[in-house]
Amino acid sequence: LFAGDCDFVKGVVAMSGLPPADRPEICLAGRSNVGKSSLINALTGRKALARTSNTPGRTQEINFFDLGGLEYLVDLPGYGYANAPLAKVDAWQRLLKQYLSGRQTLRRVFVLIDARHGVKPVDEEIMALMDKSAVTFQCVMTKVDKLKAGELDKVLAQVRGRLATHPAAFPELVLTSSAKGEGLATLRAIIAGLA
Ligand code: GTP
Ligand code: MG
Repeated sequence: LFAGDCDFVKGVVAMSGLPPADRPEICLAGRSNVGKSSLINALTGRKALARTSNTPGRTQEINFFDLGGLEYLVDLPGYGYANAPLAKVDAWQRLLKQYLSGRQTLRRVFVLIDARHGVKPVDEEIMALMDKSAVTFQCVMTKVDKLKAGELDKVLAQVRGRLATHPAAFPELVLTSSAKGEGLATLRAIIAGLA
């Protein structure tokens, strides 16, 4: 699935702009700056397929990427703090929630959690939304390269504790580093298995 072409399809700013729901879809959700777009690039092996930035609020559209014509990989705008005008942020947060709760072909939502920060209240809000709409989500820890082993264990315990309270949560965590390549093969295999 990742061996062939992974091409950008389109960026969407309204539900009416979504491509036809004709194949399985996997999306990456998470707080602004958690590393969603970087993970798309790392998974596909394309340095600048998705635009990344140090500034939270870089991705402002729902971006669709084609995986071998079989599956869509979707990069979402972040939730939580973003360095962008409030009206704009409001609009994309509304769209994000509509998409996460109302897209029929959404097979799994990967909720990215920064390994340094663990699950925050805004993450819980999104998780509760998916519980309500019965959309399975799985947590992916990002930036694990920034932590020492002992520090990571503490955060993982917090995340596992929070996930246990969410019926739509898939219990297994994936630990990743887009910078160092950790966990990418595992995540690719999971995504391929959902096609
Ligand atoms: P928004 O589009 O603003 O919601 O952010 P995003 O979640 O798409 O984050 P993005 O991929 O743009 O990455 C944010 C910052 O984190 C960038 O400076 C990345 O270089 C950095 N980053 C992402 N993944 C990793 C990682 O695995 N390790 C390290 N050390 N830095 C990372
Ligand atoms: Mg982004």
